[in-house]
Amino acid sequence: MSDKTYPPSADFTEKAHIDAAKYKEMYAASIANPEAFWDEQGKRLDWIKPYSKVKDVSYDFGKVAIKWFEDGTLNVSANCIDRHLATRGEQTAIIWEPDSPDEEAMHITYNQLHKRVCRMANILEDMGVRKGDRVVIYLPMIPEAAYAMLACARIGAIHSIVFAGFSPDALGARVNGCDAKVVITADEAPRGGRKTALKSNTDAALLHCKDTVKCLVVKRTGGQTTWIDGRDYDYNELALEADEVSAPAEVNAEDPLFILYTSGSTGQPKGVVHTTGGYLTYAAMTHEYVFDYHEGDIFWCTADVGWVTGHSYIVYGPLANGATTVMFEGVPTYPDAGRFWAVCEKHKVNQFYTAPTAIRALMGQGKEWVEKYDLSDLKLLGTVGEPINPEAWNWYNDVVGKGNCPIVDTWWQTETGGHLLTPLPGATPTKPGSATTPFFGVEPVILDPHTGAEITTTEAEGVLCLKDSWPGQMRTVWGDHERFEKTYFSDYKGYYFSGDGCRRDADGYYWITGRVDDVINVSGHRMGTAEVESALVAHAKVAEAAVVGYPHDIKGQGIYAYVTLMNDIEPTDELRKELEKWVRTEIGPIAKPDLIQWAPGLPKTRSGKIMRRILRKIAENDYGALGDTSTLADPSVVDDLIENRMNHA
Ligand code: WT7
Repeated sequence: MSDKTYPPSADFTEKAHIDAAKYKEMYAASIANPEAFWDEQGKRLDWIKPYSKVKDVSYDFGKVAIKWFEDGTLNVSANCIDRHLATRGEQTAIIWEPDSPDEEAMHITYNQLHKRVCRMANILEDMGVRKGDRVVIYLPMIPEAAYAMLACARIGAIHSIVFAGFSPDALGARVNGCDAKVVITADEAPRGGRKTALKSNTDAALLHCKDTVKCLVVKRTGGQTTWIDGRDYDYNELALEADEVSAPAEVNAEDPLFILYTSGSTGQPKGVVHTTGGYLTYAAMTHEYVFDYHEGDIFWCTADVGWVTGHSYIVYGPLANGATTVMFEGVPTYPDAGRFWAVCEKHKVNQFYTAPTAIRALMGQGKEWVEKYDLSDLKLLGTVGEPINPEAWNWYNDVVGKGNCPIVDTWWQTETGGHLLTPLPGATPTKPGSATTPFFGVEPVILDPHTGAEITTTEAEGVLCLKDSWPGQMRTVWGDHERFEKTYFSDYKGYYFSGDGCRRDADGYYWITGRVDDVINVSGHRMGTAEVESALVAHAKVAEAAVVGYPHDIKGQGIYAYVTLMNDIEPTDELRKELEKWVRTEIGPIAKPDLIQWAPGLPKTRSGKIMRRILRKIAENDYGALGDTSTLADPSVVDDLIENRMNHA
């Protein structure tokens, strides 16, 4: 970790929304009187019925309830589209950049966005979708993904996006998990020059769902699909006929806007629920201040809408602010390692937001790829998803930003809806590897993991919790409020527990040290080790499996699986490949183990509990520091595991 600081340039600060003095003043006000502060911020939105109550929050275990602007009503799609039409109807809302640079980009104006979203809203209504119903979106990164989100918001339906890289099983589980009425998909998803057959994945998923679930199919490639009359609806055909007008529904501030599944340390992924008023206020505000977004800027967040980053910073935050947002279908290395920079040049991108894993991958390809392109429109660079190592930070700063672009390292989570710890680019001196200081209204605390006591010294290390609520916070786990309370409010009573470890330095800067639970972070994507384990043991030849993370140069963490086979099964390389493929089809490519080690036995306590601490150390090649193994039922299994460890690098 580095402690070198980079103060914002005078030039940047002068034009910025927030400078150091303003940050200090506004932050103090936001903590001293949250009601007044958020009362003011809620006015960013157009309300149908204005709220009179700002905040009503209890973090008391057993009766956790989080409400913001609870008696207000609004429509999120009207806030992202309709209210801009009078002043910026002909401005580009979305720039769509396809997977292949040979295909043409699209510029969609706010007027066009309005019509297309209304059409999609009418199509969904015709298919029987009503306010409060759930719609699963399983689409490539095409404009229709944004239309679908906003169309749901328009009629008050709740969307649940499933990343197009997830398998049919994962899709089916999510359709059933929220009892969706409709799945919106496409024929195929082009990505990095390859195609994923989304419609046929959907067909496979729907075999395990109620037969009343309908499917709306968008044409992307024109690839062949099987068609089930009565169940499948052709979006492109219906859009020709659909009405271009759809009145936005009046929705309560605390009605759900979307569900997004995310991995936890136990069990199946949970459906994180975000509501409308608070979420949109927070997404819009953070988008404006953290990226210092100004009228006319071109903003590009490279995430997929299948993750929360895409929800908040491709669609909802930027569009609520009347911004021009870039939506990219492809990957950083296709057709070559210059693609990100080619797109920045082509669309004159001003703010660029990506993940450390992408930066590290591109860094490895050499700076020539960056230097080929004119990046002089870039004003700011952002990162999210995992801690960024100072080496990657410096490369981003020097090679991409030419030392002229502040870097915002934003720490947040699917649960938080928007940034919580982040520099404000005109206000905060940055330190490579630190997410710096809290956003307005955010009160981070560091607790002693053993006693649960708050560590009040400036320098501190422990678990990161939040003392009070902010409007973008998740409200519940879909269908399981008890799980919500248990996951986030039971270990440390009276606080929201983030699941992350954290250090606070002498300047009060926060440094995320990684998850403290059994969640690993692979290329900025959260993966529950329990999920990968249950996929592995579902294979007929596997008796037992234990999965841990290990340091990986590009991905941040890789997936390391210890597998015990059934009696009489030969461990072969072929079987190893078979298991990799198995996990890909059970969950999706992002869950594929990087390393599989055959384990004749796993280190267990006498009561049968797997000692992951030891498995983590072996995977990290740190077996000199295994600690106490005397409580193991059979200490000799450890020697075998060390001898045959896979991570020789
Ligand atoms: C976890 C949340 C928020 C969108 C992307 C991931 C890690 C996220 C940072 C950062 C260090 C980070 C944390 C967090 N994380 N951003 N800037 N520095 N760690 O969302 O899948 O909900 O994962 O990602 O461990 O808990 P997610």
